[in-house]
Amino acid sequence: MSFCIAIDGPAAAGKGTISKAVAKHFGFAHLDTGLLYRATGAKTFEGLTPIEAAESLTAKDLERDDLRSGDAGQAASRVAAVPEVRAALVDFQQAFARREGGAVLDGRDIGTVICPDAEVKLYVIASDEVRATRRHKELVAKGEDISLEAVLEDLRERDERDAARATAPLKPADDATVIDTTEMSIDEAVAQVIALIEARRG
Ligand code: DC
Repeated sequence: MSFCIAIDGPAAAGKGTISKAVAKHFGFAHLDTGLLYRATGAKTFEGLTPIEAAESLTAKDLERDDLRSGDAGQAASRVAAVPEVRAALVDFQQAFARREGGAVLDGRDIGTVICPDAEVKLYVIASDEVRATRRHKELVAKGEDISLEAVLEDLRERDERDAARATAPLKPADDATVIDTTEMSIDEAVAQVIALIEARRG
């Protein structure tokens, strides 16, 4: 039986951490769809066009160690605005969403485009300052030399581009539950989401 949990929201709102914990709790597979766009964006650094990069994407491309960088995030947001890039990545995501045994997908358009009939749809948000502080900590821990202000600017720029694009923009599905993690610890957010999913599963 399939069971799809769609988790969308702006950058660094806590989607990834919540998705991983939820997938582990229910024994579901997890797909971070941002990685597909980051890997596509990173391939353009080597001279490929965004469409060539998306159409030639392989599992190996997802193993690059530079995908979490700020540059890869910006490149991902740019290639993600190209409709042909999104089209090239749809089938893989939809097959993943409907795999046997359940799946958690996190991204920007999971509840609206990839899995509009998902059994559970969440839209995770947090204040800009809290999101920037969390992402800054992660990047510094990875050795990036970047200021909090630069991270905040980067997140806002990406969110604006992701929300303004014509194809599959960042926005909550009409039937999504909004979870604001600004004042929550990770454990609290995960516990709240698990309780909500358990209630839906009956
Ligand atoms: O989730 P992330 O920050 O790793 O995503 C990087 C970029 O990829 C994000 O700014 C927009 C794009 N993206 C998208 O357009 N659709 C998705 N489902 C996931 C990511």
